[in-house]
Amino acid sequence: MDERGLSRREVESLLREQKRKDLSYKRVLSSMCTYPHEVAAYAHKMFLESNLGDSGLFPGTKEMEKEVVRMIGSLLGRGQGRGQDSGNAFGYLSTGGTESNIQVIHAVRNRKRREGQRLKGMNIIVPETAHFSFDKIADLLCVEVRKAGLDEELRVAVSSVAELIDDETICVVGIAGTTEFGQVDPIKDLAKLVQEQKQEKGREIFLFVDAAFGGFVLPFLEGEGERRKYEFDFSVEGVGAVSVDPHKMGLSTIPAGCLLFREESYLEELAVPTPYLTTKSQSSLTGTRSGASAAATFAVLKYLGREGLRRVVRECVRLTRLLVRGAAELGVSTVVEPVINVAALRFPTPAEVERVASALVERGWRVSVTRAPKALRLVVMPHVKEETVKEFLEDLEAVVVSSYI
Ligand SMILES: Cc1ncc(COP(=O)(O)O)c(C=O)c1O
Repeated sequence: MDERGLSRREVESLLREQKRKDLSYKRVLSSMCTYPHEVAAYAHKMFLESNLGDSGLFPGTKEMEKEVVRMIGSLLGRGQGRGQDSGNAFGYLSTGGTESNIQVIHAVRNRKRREGQRLKGMNIIVPETAHFSFDKIADLLCVEVRKAGLDEELRVAVSSVAELIDDETICVVGIAGTTEFGQVDPIKDLAKLVQEQKQEKGREIFLFVDAAFGGFVLPFLEGEGERRKYEFDFSVEGVGAVSVDPHKMGLSTIPAGCLLFREESYLEELAVPTPYLTTKSQSSLTGTRSGASAAATFAVLKYLGREGLRRVVRECVRLTRLLVRGAAELGVSTVVEPVINVAALRFPTPAEVERVASALVERGWRVSVTRAPKALRLVVMPHVKEETVKEFLEDLEAVVVSSYI
């Protein structure tokens, strides 16, 4: 760091220089983030200094966080007056899907340790398609992470989960909107499995749904039948926690994740006393916490409402279908029929997938490649427009057809 600071003008010029190096999202088909909604950006700027880690100083921001938890909870099947167990969800706004995943497993692990279970041997079961944040969890929380196999549609195979369960299994994880294929695991079947384990073997296994991406997509799919087919949230009895990221399909600013428990007591498993702050305890992983992105999430959810979010999802799904149809006309099919706005295109060999991906990158696109099976992964976020899809298909045609001539 230099002794003397630069002028404001010089700093602005430096910033512009760096900004020019960053990509715009225009041709990005590899990211699960997007431009925040203008209302979210406005709110974020207004609450820049607000720290939810010391929320007694920012009661207005704290109220917004509570309201966001309530709104998302009600979107995900809580607080709607259904049955006797219809209270609200309990949680907080995290930095994103990784922190939410860590904290849910952290809470479940702490509960089991408090109940007397030894840490050695403790394990959780996730699908092979789980996000890599679960590998961080194994390291951080010292629990074994077992990976269950998939069915032919790339959803977790419930029989594989069942085979991996033992007396030391503390949690089963299902994914609603997998990172690579956009698939939805059979959450109801996982709930049934967990219930059977309790009845038959006396095992108390927690069920957690990672809906970091799908949480703001699946509730807005067209048609009651379609939504029922992919039921994934607290409306499924036995689901103990759900995570969803406002900074993905919720159009909020980064960093904004949200973790929700059915029972408040799980937040207490995470609580540590906070001497010298305005609050008594804290359940979040981070200390200082962005009030700005809580305000941004509050603002965008209030502004768009379910109707607005539904419009966003409808357009992303429409463009995904357009893309998939266009690819099919070029002889390129998908690995699985897309459920949401994530598509994976199949090619004859893994080498061909890599070749097509590199050729597209050379043409200015950002795409990614899935692990198994290897395929070209495309995420159709709200920054993708119809024009972009058409341009992409033209380039795909050039790249694919040129190699077959
Ligand atoms: C299903 C799922 N879970 C968790 C995460 C991690 O989210 P983040 O990058 O916000 O930590 C992702 C990210 O893509 C995801 O797709």
